[in-house]
Amino acid sequence: AEVVIVGSEEEAGELAASALVDLVRSRPDAVLGLATGSTPLSTYRALARRLRDDGLDVSRVRGFALDEYVGLPPGHPESYRAVITREVVEPLGLTPSLVHVPNGDPETIRTAADDYERAIADAGGVDLQILGIGRTGHIGFNEPGSSLASPTRVKTLTEQTRADNARFFDSPDDVPVHCITQGIGTILRARHLVLLAFGAAKARALADAVEGPVSASRPGSAIQLHPHATVIVDEAAAAELE
Ligand code: F6R
Repeated sequence: AEVVIVGSEEEAGELAASALVDLVRSRPDAVLGLATGSTPLSTYRALARRLRDDGLDVSRVRGFALDEYVGLPPGHPESYRAVITREVVEPLGLTPSLVHVPNGDPETIRTAADDYERAIADAGGVDLQILGIGRTGHIGFNEPGSSLASPTRVKTLTEQTRADNARFFDSPDDVPVHCITQGIGTILRARHLVLLAFGAAKARALADAVEGPVSASRPGSAIQLHPHATVIVDEAAAAELE
């Protein structure tokens, strides 16, 4: 992977947003792969600003989120459907019906993963996938032990990830136990991966992803199998790189 070390989260966001703007300019119906969590927020903010300034038409841009919690009540503000609407669709002015999030409704969960995988394929695949990385080394919600060829499927979150994400919920017990996530195989089919990581808490996972052995026990290391992966990190997240 190409590693770019920047001075701040803001600078990283500008850089990632530039790649997204270039993509949309060359392909007005581009397919964006969208991460949630804290990491991509500076990218989405920068992108919203750039799109406004450039007056780019994004009405045909399509999107696929990486993952969703299983079993949150419909409309829960921390469901990734709600987060993607609030942080991405609205500020960027995307067409809501063109932006997809896996369906975490337990009633239909048996078919949701295959449906999602098919929808991505039918769209012609993801052009640029934004990724964060968890302290466990997960990308998407592919926790350690996930097959490097895995498709979209239901997974169990690790206690570490539930604790890390508890900040978004009223109580740690409210963090769902299950999720539906694009697989590592799904992620690897995107044509360009842009992985972002900020802060000292990500340094170990980031070094393992970029320089460690490629292994299912370090899901982020799968990016080493990708011919076009860009890693944008701040100094603190880069601290454990050789
Ligand atoms: C989010 C996702 C996760 C996060 C990761 C880092 O859609 O798939 O892999 O990117 O948990 O989360 P933050 O950015 O909140 O530190």
